[in-house]
Amino acid sequence: SSGFLGQITLDGPSGTGKSSVARSVAARLGAAYLDTGAMYRAATVAVLDAGIDPEDAEAVARVVAEARIEVGTSAGTELVEVDGVDVAVRIRGAEVTRAVSAVSAVPAVRRRLVDQQRALVEAADAVVVEGRDIGTVVLPDATLKVYLTAAPEARAQRRAAQLGLRTADEVAALAVDLRRRDEYDSSRADSPLRPAADAVVVDSTDLSQEGVVDRVVELARSAVGAR
Ligand code: DC
Repeated sequence: SSGFLGQITLDGPSGTGKSSVARSVAARLGAAYLDTGAMYRAATVAVLDAGIDPEDAEAVARVVAEARIEVGTSAGTELVEVDGVDVAVRIRGAEVTRAVSAVSAVPAVRRRLVDQQRALVEAADAVVVEGRDIGTVVLPDATLKVYLTAAPEARAQRRAAQLGLRTADEVAALAVDLRRRDEYDSSRADSPLRPAADAVVVDSTDLSQEGVVDRVVELARSAVGAR
């Protein structure tokens, strides 16, 4: 292991390869890994199962306050549970993906999950935390903040490949959905998606995944050296 100690935040929109990069960086550095998007997705499962409208902020806040949300912090395995039930597969489904922006825009949901994220991070000596507001809100004093971007077409293509979609129509529909979620995530009042003032912006459009991982690992080493 590299002996890296500290916190690396990896924020940015979806379809940039952020999750794969975050997991690889954590594995390379021997660090823990926290996927905060999985926590908002798990909260969304609780909302859907309660049969309430994801746009009903008050009801959403009530349901999420009562739900027991558990996530693992290891890059190798994905543990996501709601009230003791494994939802690791379900959180990636279309139903959850459609509703998660509304659930994650509710301030009480964010407060609850941010508290839980900070507690999980505190328990680790070295950690890579992936999300939208990690550098701006959750861990403002992180060792290294990275904001990962990519051109919209590249992001839609990457998503399509992950989902096994091929036709131009399918990719175009994905691009529309990506833009809708970006717009929603960037314009919400509470913790909008944006780079922290001290984040390093990395554009993955013309980089391989290994290229991005190398770059982040390099930045992590110089961030530690600079302290
Ligand atoms: O990264 P992802 O697609 O799994 O994120 C799911 C949703 O959760 C996405 O619409 C944005 C939201 N999210 C958030 O608001 N804040 C975070 N720290 C992580 C995710």
